[in-house]
Amino acid sequence: MAKEKNKKIGKFHIDQIYCGDAIKLMKDIPSESIDLIVTDPPFAIDFKAKRNNYNRTQSRVLEGYNEIPKEKYYEFTVNWMKEAYRILKETGSMYVFSGWTNLKDILNALDDVGFITINHLIWKYQFGVFTKRKYVTSHYHILFVAKNAKKYKFNKIEHYPEDVWIINREYWTGKIKTPTKLPIELVKKILLFSSEKGDIVFDPFIGSGTVAVAAKMLGRHYLGFEIVPEYCEFAKERLSKIQSSLFTWINGEKWSKEENG
Ligand SMILES: C[S@@+](CC[C@H](N)C(=O)[O-])C[C@H]1O[C@@H](n2cnc3c(N)ncnc32)[C@H](O)[C@@H]1O
Repeated sequence: MAKEKNKKIGKFHIDQIYCGDAIKLMKDIPSESIDLIVTDPPFAIDFKAKRNNYNRTQSRVLEGYNEIPKEKYYEFTVNWMKEAYRILKETGSMYVFSGWTNLKDILNALDDVGFITINHLIWKYQFGVFTKRKYVTSHYHILFVAKNAKKYKFNKIEHYPEDVWIINREYWTGKIKTPTKLPIELVKKILLFSSEKGDIVFDPFIGSGTVAVAAKMLGRHYLGFEIVPEYCEFAKERLSKIQSSLFTWINGEKWSKEENG
């Protein structure tokens, strides 16, 4: 057990979150060492439109302020995806989340880097932002891609697994909230379909740590990077609260019966 704990990939210890720039840190992950990447990268935003929010001093919401300017989004995306392709094992796969506004850059980058698209999933959530003169956005895109169409892992845990997933966002009860947190149930579903116990799951943009939390609960190893120090600390703290008793009884249960983290 102690040996497992000290396992390393390159200079990184597994089951750890590291604070820093993913594009730089990923260069130190050895080639073909990761089983699964699940990530919800930063968005490209219009900086002028968001500037007002930056002056907020007292807030219980941790702002995801490390967004990328629109004109640099493709370049940023290709840069991290090239590394993602290199570090994935031949049997590996990747799930990338994207809103519809940046989808074109994400799709082009995936193709340009050489990934093979297996599915284009839709996550339908509740509580889209109210609009006056257009439809309320209440879905996200999830691109499921692989390196090798014949070798990627896929545990067919449902008889008829459809590509539209209706999963609610979670309510937050704690003091601090992060605005873009994914539901743990959604990430668990991905891990159960596309990884096995003991696999290494990596998220270069871990935010509040959801991918690592789901991995820990399901007996997978994890590695995560995050550039905003407050998020990084938040994710570490969240992970430290997962008790072994919780993920013991979850193991072996069907994902739909599991409790939220
Ligand atoms: C959409 S959020 C991820 C949310 C996460 N899935 C969760 O459930 O909390 C994207 C994250 O990427 C981080 N980020 C942006 N640029 C980064 C970079 N170059 N390296 C590492 N993290 C970065 C942002 O600070 C933000 O926390």
